[in-house]
Amino acid sequence: MTESPEALRDQALLNVGATSKFAPLPLGEAADMGQAADGTPLFDPQIFDSSEFARNPYPYYRLLRDHHPVYHDKLHNAYYVTRFADITECYFDDAGFNTIPKGSSSGVLGNTQLELSGVEHRRRRNLYGQHLVGKSLTHRVPSIKRLAREMIDNWSIESAPGSDGRTTIELGAAFANEFPIRVVCEVLGFPPEARGDFYYWYNSMMSGLGGSATHKQGVEARQHLEDYVGQLVAERRVTPTWLHDDDGNPISKDIITKLCETKVDGDYLSTEEITSNIALVVGGGGETTRGAIMHLWYLLLTHPEQFAALKNDDSLWDQAFHETLRHSTPIGGQPRHNTHDLSLHGVDIPAGSLINMVDFSANHDERIFSEPEAFNIFRDDLYSGKILRSGYAKEGRCSHMAFGVGPHLCPGAWISQQEAVEGSKALLAAMPDVALDLDKMQRDSISGEPRDIGISSIRELWLTFADGS
Ligand code: HEM
Repeated sequence: MTESPEALRDQALLNVGATSKFAPLPLGEAADMGQAADGTPLFDPQIFDSSEFARNPYPYYRLLRDHHPVYHDKLHNAYYVTRFADITECYFDDAGFNTIPKGSSSGVLGNTQLELSGVEHRRRRNLYGQHLVGKSLTHRVPSIKRLAREMIDNWSIESAPGSDGRTTIELGAAFANEFPIRVVCEVLGFPPEARGDFYYWYNSMMSGLGGSATHKQGVEARQHLEDYVGQLVAERRVTPTWLHDDDGNPISKDIITKLCETKVDGDYLSTEEITSNIALVVGGGGETTRGAIMHLWYLLLTHPEQFAALKNDDSLWDQAFHETLRHSTPIGGQPRHNTHDLSLHGVDIPAGSLINMVDFSANHDERIFSEPEAFNIFRDDLYSGKILRSGYAKEGRCSHMAFGVGPHLCPGAWISQQEAVEGSKALLAAMPDVALDLDKMQRDSISGEPRDIGISSIRELWLTFADGS
């Protein structure tokens, strides 16, 4: 949540053309950065600031995993941990590794559990986390399906059917940018007329996390959200509100109502506490799921045999979702700060250092996943069952790291899976013969093929389909 997708994207945009030291290479090949006297390949941290790294990160992470599994980047004053097993161990060591340092998000999101550890963290997380999983989630699936259908019925067409009878859409603008926000908005219990404000809160708080220039805007939006939630809370404390099925039958109370009814140590949650929980869910649930949907469709459309298999077997969507998150996760990793001095793989890390846990790299660790650069929804080493907190093997397979693991494992993982899968089923039903609009897609500077996903999420995905198909 901290290396926010917005920040990553901004970083990637800044990087484009930032340094010409590293010329673009064929995807999968790393620049030669020299060798130590014993032959160990060296690593130049300037690569992190290059456009080459943004488009072609994986060979560089492989170099780190193989030769510098803990890398001290003196240029950016940070450490990088890149192997799956090491990252998992650190994520589980809640006492040894703090999440975001206090101050970086709290001004914008409020006092959230992101900055807490141990019992305090668990208690906070369970307050709303329980409403996003299990039976509560099952109750929410009908709204997810309905929202997807509503969006598709009214989506904006980029160009109406041409002489070939095909319609063009940009998937982000037509569906993926907004769909996850609509779901979160409804599941939380915001009335539909609050949607416009919801985008304002979401976008401003997200960019507020990204840097000092936008911080003020983020804090203002957070205050505006708190004022709005304050009114809703006052109403819901008296009159609970419900989500309904398609026939208008109540299926479950919305999350704001449930939070209003929640007591901790005999006291109801304060409005500030409820707002912080909501701000965190608002922040966590938009860009991430947007990226997942865009990547899922891009990867399926560039792997037509796998897409064909999926069209014949609906049950493959869950596997496709998890393989997408392993192959091209929308969140690159999480920062942690070590609470005590430590030594890992022979590198001494003083207490309080910034350590980047690179989930991107863990997901491509060949110690865990064979041929990690290949997108393969049928791979037999990825676990795609019920999401695991352990990140470790079950039935001889490992789960990917895109949702993190351990105590901070994404509580929105289950609902985002439902959004991506149910949303994609509805998309496929609306455009069964969909194809990439290759003329409109950005091209890779070396291969000339549609550009790889690289380090930042795809912004635009152009699709064509036969009208009324
Ligand atoms: C594909 C979509 C998603 C991805 C890849 C993703 C990824 C992540 C990751 C990696 C973390 C762990 C942060 C850490 O270890 O410090 C996280 C935490 C979190 N996510 Fe997600 N997320 C997604 C969707 C969602 C959704 C839909 C929601 C809300 C409905 C959500 C809410 C949260 C919250 C509240 C946390 C903080 C959990 C804690 O600190 O205990 N996420 N997410």
